[in-house]
Amino acid sequence: MAARSASLTIAAMNTSTPSSSGAQGAGSAAAASPASGPQSAAAHALPRIAVLATGGTIAGTAADAANTSGYQAGVVGVERLLEAVPALSSVAQIQPEQIASIDSKDMALALWTTLAQRVNALLASDDIDGVVITHGTDTLEETAYLLHLTVKSIKPVVLTAAMRPSSALSADGPLNLLNAVTVAASQAAHGQGVLVAFNNRIHSARDVVKTSTYAVDAFQSPEVGALGWVQDGRVEFQRKVVRPHTVDTEFVIGAKWPNVEIVVSYAGVSRIGVDALVAAGVRGIVVAGTGNGSIHASVQQALADAVSQGVVVVRSSRVGSGHVMRNGAASDDALGFVTAGALNPYKARVLLMLALAAGGTGPVALQKAFDKY
Ligand code: SIN
Repeated sequence: MAARSASLTIAAMNTSTPSSSGAQGAGSAAAASPASGPQSAAAHALPRIAVLATGGTIAGTAADAANTSGYQAGVVGVERLLEAVPALSSVAQIQPEQIASIDSKDMALALWTTLAQRVNALLASDDIDGVVITHGTDTLEETAYLLHLTVKSIKPVVLTAAMRPSSALSADGPLNLLNAVTVAASQAAHGQGVLVAFNNRIHSARDVVKTSTYAVDAFQSPEVGALGWVQDGRVEFQRKVVRPHTVDTEFVIGAKWPNVEIVVSYAGVSRIGVDALVAAGVRGIVVAGTGNGSIHASVQQALADAVSQGVVVVRSSRVGSGHVMRNGAASDDALGFVTAGALNPYKARVLLMLALAAGGTGPVALQKAFDKY
């Protein structure tokens, strides 16, 4: 198990432009910035990419280079992450910013608000062409989907991470970071929604999920596959995102987050969890059902009772791939449930929170949001 630190530090924003730093040469954060002199004209022509660091294993260190599981996540600053990748200076002008230094298991709603607002502010500026976010792998898919629905720009936003800490033999973070900046700097990434660049593949934020606890190929897009790939500076998309995202959603960050929690159905489960959540005043419950979203009879009755008290219930699956069919494993129309389709429980929670914050009420309107996004 990783020794996990959760020191949340919302750092002062570095808003200075790379070109004003005047630093040069590989081996510093500013090395990714254009140098003054003859090379600077070429460097100025490079896309300007903001790299926002939030922590994670990509910023983790262990005492021993052979150790890839017992480490402290989120302790290496953005400057040192960039120092490890001198090749960035020929891909983009980098504007580094330390947003937080956390293990992503501790991601909080307030930090989501800070991050989404900062991404939107940067992309609204003519001085920034794209954003890369370094993140822990554990909740990356949730943050990515949140941004996919709330970023108001067609400029690229690319999340990346690492499965091995920065101190490890064969650390995967530096190449993932280079590839993420390469994707963010690419014209082809415009209008594709929020992307995840990991282990040479480019995934849509909507589809991507973490599927391994240890493998460097930890992210997959079950059923649909990656959008494309990035290798040796080349970016290629093989398909397009079809559902609306970013500028084509009604969702904005800033409203109070509604309280939405997740319960799981499993052999022998009782209704205690659902009843406790309803008593605590939640606005929504996502149930991670078995199979095609089937729910143990005791929990299903508790959820039906929750609906009668005004709680929104979304039926999803704990299986990890496939979709949940409306009126399939449960009578959603009769029970007043919403179905999550192909969204896993964690992404379904993100969408439900945003839809409720946008004023959505009632299973019919909320089902439309799930069918659309
Ligand atoms: C984290 O999610 O912050 C720790 C695990 C990782 O990044 O792989």
